[in-house]
Amino acid sequence: MQLDRLRTTAGVDIKGKRVIVRADLNVPVKDGKVTDATRLERLVPGLQDLAKRGARVIVIAHFGRPKGGPDPQFSLKPVADKLGELLAHRVVFAEDCVGGPAEGAVAALPPGRIAVLENVRFHKAEEKNDASFAKRLAALGDLYVNDAFSAAHRAHASTDALAHLLPAYAGPLLMEEVNALERVLEKPDHPTAAIIGGAKVSSKIDVLTHLAAKVDRLIIAGAMANTFLLAQGVEIGKSLVEPGHAGTALNIMHAAKARHCEVILPRDFVVAPKLEVGAASQVVATLETPSELMILDVGPKTVAHYTEIIGRCRTLVWNGPLGAFEIAPFGEGTFALARQAATLTTSGALVSVAGGGDTVAALNAAGVSNQFTYVSTAGGAFLEWLEGRELPGIAALTGAWS
Ligand code: 3PG
Ligand code: MG
Repeated sequence: MQLDRLRTTAGVDIKGKRVIVRADLNVPVKDGKVTDATRLERLVPGLQDLAKRGARVIVIAHFGRPKGGPDPQFSLKPVADKLGELLAHRVVFAEDCVGGPAEGAVAALPPGRIAVLENVRFHKAEEKNDASFAKRLAALGDLYVNDAFSAAHRAHASTDALAHLLPAYAGPLLMEEVNALERVLEKPDHPTAAIIGGAKVSSKIDVLTHLAAKVDRLIIAGAMANTFLLAQGVEIGKSLVEPGHAGTALNIMHAAKARHCEVILPRDFVVAPKLEVGAASQVVATLETPSELMILDVGPKTVAHYTEIIGRCRTLVWNGPLGAFEIAPFGEGTFALARQAATLTTSGALVSVAGGGDTVAALNAAGVSNQFTYVSTAGGAFLEWLEGRELPGIAALTGAWS
């Protein structure tokens, strides 16, 4: 991807112009209330900037995965209300993203004001990246800004086709995300480390393979480490494992070795009879997991070892927890290492970037999210970037200038 081709609206005269902003308003909502507004909070400064510069701001977004028709359960109305609260002024809400309701709302929108249009996924054409649907969206605006990095892995009408129909720009949040990922993966200070955790090797084969060719140290943890250990003949008791992927694990280790990337696995574990709150747990060395117990977290020696490794690195990218962090006491390994990474970051020794839904929840639980250099709001898009894949929503913005 030619990221140097991304353009922002800085210096562009947008006064009185209709600016369509593709945002990611896909936030958790329960009983009509937004339960985590992080994505909205990150969007607000960019929207405020456009409004202050006199633009007529039209926000479009998806919400959830409706089946391609209107469904009240997936209405963006409660999210628009929350956004209005954060912006400290009422936003206009249109009950459809195209046609009469959208056109009426846009026509009546004064400069400096913000409208939110209903879920673009209420139209099947959105996910089909349909050109005529994109044309109907384009008719609402003069300029297009994509500020939805976390939806940039989708080649949908509002993230792809639309970018080719209007002068297209990257929003400030998208730029922030891209710059953070570039800093740790494309132009890092060496040595670099990646911590990749989570349950399954199978869901992260491409991430591990790509990172093995990119970083100096690849730290593998979470239940996926069990598959790596099994592949080397280590007894892992009743632990979660993917025996069918033992070969995959060995391939990744060989690929890493060929690229002089050191693969690092846990040295000890917290084990218990089952995964439940307060289960009787004990710490065992890697080669000593009893056959009737399961590995649920890394142990203190592992945390100390990983801390020493990241302490010798200048750059860290982190995706995936080290253990079953949602269930006490199996979050301690993740939290302890998160605190160490945060301390190294605040002291200026480490550039740290983390992303992915579970990871952010774990860092929040450890209370250190705002001590990392950058915490991405993206889930799938962050992973696809770690896989080295081109994100269609970003490619569309760079291609728009060719
Ligand atoms: C996300 O929440 O990760 C993005 O908004 C993308 O949502 P999707 O996986 O439903 O496309
Ligand atoms: Mg997703």
